[in-house]
Amino acid sequence: MGLNIAYHLYTNPPQPLHCIASSSLKPHLYISSKRIPLQPQSSSSSFLVRCASRISIATTPNRWSLHGMSALVTGGTRGIGRAIVEELAGLGAEVHTCARNETELENCLGDWNRSGFRVAGSVCDVSDRAQREALMENVSSFFDGKLHILVNNVGTNIRKPMVEFTAGEFSTLMSTNFESVFHLCQLAYPMLRASEAASVVSISSVSGFVSLKNMSVQSATKGAINQLTRSLACEWAKDNIRINAVAPWYIKTSMVEQVLSNKEYLDEVYSITPLGRLGEPREVSSAVAFLCLPASSYITGQIICVDGGMSINGFFPRHD
Ligand SMILES: NC(=O)c1ccc[n+]([C@@H]2O[C@H](COP(=O)([O-])OP(=O)(O)OC[C@H]3O[C@@H](n4cnc5c(N)ncnc54)[C@H](OP(=O)(O)O)[C@@H]3O)[C@@H](O)[C@H]2O)c1
Repeated sequence: MGLNIAYHLYTNPPQPLHCIASSSLKPHLYISSKRIPLQPQSSSSSFLVRCASRISIATTPNRWSLHGMSALVTGGTRGIGRAIVEELAGLGAEVHTCARNETELENCLGDWNRSGFRVAGSVCDVSDRAQREALMENVSSFFDGKLHILVNNVGTNIRKPMVEFTAGEFSTLMSTNFESVFHLCQLAYPMLRASEAASVVSISSVSGFVSLKNMSVQSATKGAINQLTRSLACEWAKDNIRINAVAPWYIKTSMVEQVLSNKEYLDEVYSITPLGRLGEPREVSSAVAFLCLPASSYITGQIICVDGGMSINGFFPRHD
């Protein structure tokens, strides 16, 4: 069991900074990727280091903080994406987001700026290959070529029986929901690898596991995300890039407002959801944030359902 020791760091101008490490480890600092061992000064629990203020210091990361990390969250102006932007920024990350509607994006950026969150944004339709490339060029120059977190949040839905799908509708769902995830991961790979410890989280759906009425195409895109998650988790483990997904059931957002305005339909949703209610965007963003934190550093290739128990419900009648 390690004894916690406080290391006192002094920069020029002096700026005391405490970091906690286990006594079982040889204490050291990384300064501009150089490993510098710390030497005891006067007592065995106090170490003094002098360094110029302009060089950045990376100490042992706080397991429950995203300070010093860069994040790209697609579709951050509404619903689950907006909650994710706010959750990650609230935990200290610097976030870049995108959406198609410029006015809505500007309004959000204004709100976040007033709240003290460090968030920037670009207009981008992630279903378009050239726009995805332009987005990633922006992100690369914004974050100096290093990305710690990629959240593939954008997704859409067209509800209809499979035989009625036109080629155009099929292509819209595939490019928005799946091709965007595949290609953004490809484009982000050099930046994720450069960060030395990265996390990708994609927003899937319970539809990737179970059948839902009129959702054959949307569920195929989410099933594809789930398997890409498992494959990339193995392929990119060597680069310390973790790949996970979060699969929600009904969450109160603009995407599902209309379908849930039908009272009978809503009652059926409640009846198959053990927790008996809809989810809130913040209940998804907290799971996403956990998967991005150093605290989840041994979790990869997983798809976590945030669904009030819907996907594990067998037969539990509400009345005895
Ligand atoms: N809500 C649910 O019940 C639920 C359940 C399961 C899974 N999900 C998944 O959760 C994710 C988010 O859903 P949500 O309900 O939060 O959606 P939402 O309320 O419709 O918000 C979607 C966000 O993404 C942006 N967006 C949509 N299409 C885009 C595109 N082609 N390019 C760039 N940005 C785009 C939107 O802004 P613009 O319109 O300005 O582009 C908006 O900021 C999706 O992947 C969805 O499949 C949701």
